[in-house]
Amino acid sequence: MATADLTTLSPAERGEKLVESLFGASIATMELFAVYLGDRLGYYRALAESDKATSTELAQRTNTSERYTREWLEQQAMAGVLDVEDTGIASTRRYRLPAGHDEVLTDRDSLSYMTPLVRLAVGCVSVMPALMDAFRNGGGVPYPDYGQDTREGIADMNRVMFINQLASAWFPALPDIHQRLLDTDRPARVADIGCGTGWSSIAIAQGFPATRVDGFDVDEASIKTATATAASLGLQDRVTFEVRDAGDPDLAGTYDFACAFECIHDMANPVATLAAMRRLVGEGGTVLIADERVADVFDATTGDEIERLMYGFSILHCLPVGMADSPSAGTGTVMRADTFRGYAEAAGFRNVAILPIENIFWRFYRLTA
Ligand SMILES: C[S@@+](CC[C@H](N)C(=O)[O-])C[C@H]1O[C@@H](n2cnc3c(N)ncnc32)[C@H](O)[C@@H]1O
Repeated sequence: MATADLTTLSPAERGEKLVESLFGASIATMELFAVYLGDRLGYYRALAESDKATSTELAQRTNTSERYTREWLEQQAMAGVLDVEDTGIASTRRYRLPAGHDEVLTDRDSLSYMTPLVRLAVGCVSVMPALMDAFRNGGGVPYPDYGQDTREGIADMNRVMFINQLASAWFPALPDIHQRLLDTDRPARVADIGCGTGWSSIAIAQGFPATRVDGFDVDEASIKTATATAASLGLQDRVTFEVRDAGDPDLAGTYDFACAFECIHDMANPVATLAAMRRLVGEGGTVLIADERVADVFDATTGDEIERLMYGFSILHCLPVGMADSPSAGTGTVMRADTFRGYAEAAGFRNVAILPIENIFWRFYRLTA
């Protein structure tokens, strides 16, 4: 039922609707935490590698306690995540990961891979006491405090888009840049700002084998992972990573192209970052920004699931991360197009165009310096 229709209900009916909604959400929340356990404890991977398993077999394969494993398996069957061959005896019931669910839960390269989103949701609430303080005193929660689940959740969610879509679907929407990156006679230099664990930089280097990519991020743990990943893929000669605040006035260099994926809204000073990117590409240069695909205006009567998801991230993660530094623009995840245009213009860009790239999460802006 749309929000607008809810206003026609009586107070009793509205109360009943909210009870139903919160009851369902509470079940869903617990089931989400159960998926987190299945992912992190290796249950899904072990089930994907076997035909079916009893609780004893699965516990042995994952080095976990049989009693907990049995309860988790029963919960998973009840939630419809696993199929069960029910013998009527708890110890001999055999569980199977149904075809279709294996891709969603274990295939790291699939666009349907959902466990990173689950990890991210768990990571977002891991800082709850600090988040409550931030709400009370107006401060923030630093990005590193959200820990490994958040870092890896973001990395793995975005990685599948980078490795599947960046070179083949996104960059062709910038024909001149695409051509430049493909030019093997004059290897292009690319700056990837707020690169996180580096998968966008790596996807650029893999998709355009002549390019040299420098990734910058202020988060030390992310840069450490990015550096190790590039080395493990043999890309260390063409892809480098550096711990660096994007707004640092000393960030210098000459680049053919600069990009920033899903990070401008997280920054305390987005204008300083955009100005730095403009400097890096020089007069007439091009910058690509991908950030959340939210509606152009706030309208609670038409808000869809993406808008709800983005507001969820905003209150639990992005706004407090952006508010951890002071002064802060206090942007939050729901950075509407006009807000972004304002930042880009303040940073001195002459032109801001929205690119015709299909993506349910992100909108792509081409900025001309
Ligand atoms: C949501 S993550 C996105 C990471 C990566 N671009 C991706 O798409 O996976 C936002 C990133 O912005 C980085 N970040 C935030 N403020 C920054 C700043 N001032 N300078 C550099 N990086 C920053 C964070 O450390 C984090 O890695």
